[in-house]
Amino acid sequence: EKAKAQSGPQFSFTEVEAGVDETHHVAEGYDADVLLRWGDPLFADSPEFDPTKQTPEAQARQFGYNNDYVGYIPIDGSSEHGMLVVNHEYTNEHLMFPGIVTVADGKVEVAPADRNRVDVEMAAHGGTIVEIRKDGGKWRVVRDGARNRRITSDTEMELTGPAAGHDRLKTSADATGKKVIGTVNNCAGGVTPWGTYIMAEENFHGYFMGELPEGHREAANYERYGVPEGSYEWGNFHERFDVSKEPNEPNRFGWVVEVDVDDPNSVPKKRTALGRFKHEGADNVVARDGRVVFYLGDDERFDYVYKFVTAGRYDPDDRAANMALLDDGTLHVARFEEDGTMSWLSLTFGEGPLTAENGFESQADVLIETRKAADLLGATPMDRPEDIGPDGETGRVYVMLTNNTKRKEANAANPRVDNAFGHIVEIAEEGGDFAATSGRWEILVKCGDPSVAEVGATFSTETTKNGWFGMPDNCAVDADGRLWVATDGLSPEHGRTDGLFAVDTSGDQATSKLFFRVPVGAEMCGPLPTPDLATFFVAVQHPGDGGDDWEGFGRPSYYEDLSTRWPDFRDDMPVRPSVLAITRQGGGKIGA
Ligand code: FEO
Ligand code: CA
Ligand code: CA
Ligand code: CA
Repeated sequence: EKAKAQSGPQFSFTEVEAGVDETHHVAEGYDADVLLRWGDPLFADSPEFDPTKQTPEAQARQFGYNNDYVGYIPIDGSSEHGMLVVNHEYTNEHLMFPGIVTVADGKVEVAPADRNRVDVEMAAHGGTIVEIRKDGGKWRVVRDGARNRRITSDTEMELTGPAAGHDRLKTSADATGKKVIGTVNNCAGGVTPWGTYIMAEENFHGYFMGELPEGHREAANYERYGVPEGSYEWGNFHERFDVSKEPNEPNRFGWVVEVDVDDPNSVPKKRTALGRFKHEGADNVVARDGRVVFYLGDDERFDYVYKFVTAGRYDPDDRAANMALLDDGTLHVARFEEDGTMSWLSLTFGEGPLTAENGFESQADVLIETRKAADLLGATPMDRPEDIGPDGETGRVYVMLTNNTKRKEANAANPRVDNAFGHIVEIAEEGGDFAATSGRWEILVKCGDPSVAEVGATFSTETTKNGWFGMPDNCAVDADGRLWVATDGLSPEHGRTDGLFAVDTSGDQATSKLFFRVPVGAEMCGPLPTPDLATFFVAVQHPGDGGDDWEGFGRPSYYEDLSTRWPDFRDDMPVRPSVLAITRQGGGKIGA
């Protein structure tokens, strides 16, 4: 049944030993060089990074925090000169700002934020667009690149598409319902065939505080999305993040953002046609007939897998026309049947239950409350959909489902209750057509340690104790159709940490090998191969972070004695999220 006929293994490299320590490790024969660290200057006039005196103005000219998605837009088709685009998902205040943490009786307290701290946090969010070049086999940042740009939670954006201008998107600062300030929690993302940068807004609920006015019409909507969660204190200084003052503002977040990287002054567009939910990523592929298909995960327990199919066709010779593709098309949600078939149900106003009877007056309502629309259509609740990677050659699509320990009832596509380690679903679109509205699916692998019978993992027997993984999160299908998976949530408890795994999908069962692992406390993000497969960019996110599981490994502030000061290992530098470039010593294809 497999469309791919592989002879022999897809990967031959010496696996990294699983484990945890203060630094990163890459397979023997490869170099992993730090390319960009939090605070690194991006412009000729950027101030040097001083962690003890950080200002919002400096941060807005420097590389942001918690690098997540990494994309590469070649210049003149080159694999050695291009624009790197990087999402900055969120901030770890306790690791960023000196002296704000106290520990008493084992309880960690973070001091309340002041205006400067909030504004630094906002400037450390968003994205970076930066020119990079490979000279003598090593990558470097082109600091005076004419298109270098920072996007932050303070960057003006435009809402476009069917929901733009709707009353539910209007605020006291914006009577048009089309002008938004900023983007938040940009997790994974994508790059389009026409060279734009896609930033997906994921956990936007955390940025809002306050209480909705009594009986407000958005109450049920916000409850479905967990708004407001109040993880940040931005609303104390910026009223738009306080729902008691700006009740409609949360409707202006949770979208997919498209950025034209060719013009550093372009206004990023929030493309409402792609729905409003906790968008993990937006990987995309051109279907046979030229329509463009975006695969979209909604990362929450029991939420859904979506895809958006453009109405128009991609035209390689008309960039301007392509810039409007994301405003018109059909959003679908996945329903996985027990018999291995599936359908993509369309979220279209007026069809099926998506009518006034259920509170939908227009397509804008369907998009603003995408989750409710998908609930009504009978979509399949999944174990936290993360990145989704289409393989342009085979018509197959890999869906990362990271975990769901709240699952009490299994279904065929989510076969384990109390799913601690996640799994990967492989979709075969009908006829290999990415725009199809039906397909078949199977489980590529149930993740976890195959040596522990109760876990029920299904890696092949060739997978070693170093090669198994859990919590699949980001993924990449490279130009050779090879699958790479980045994990989020493995911990010292498991005797290992997050990493990048090469997954051989050619046999009956997936074989996985550990290629790279991150320092303690970190999460592996990216990964991104250049078109020639000679470089992999990877993002090391939240190194040194110590959640409850990290007793003895991470400490809560860099004024404490952190267990890692990666990547600088200097007493006067905090631990810093960074993007690395992995290359093969002597050159050549990664992983081969
Ligand atoms: Fe930002 Fe779904 O991880
Ligand atoms: Ca995750
Ligand atoms: Ca993630
Ligand atoms: Ca993350």
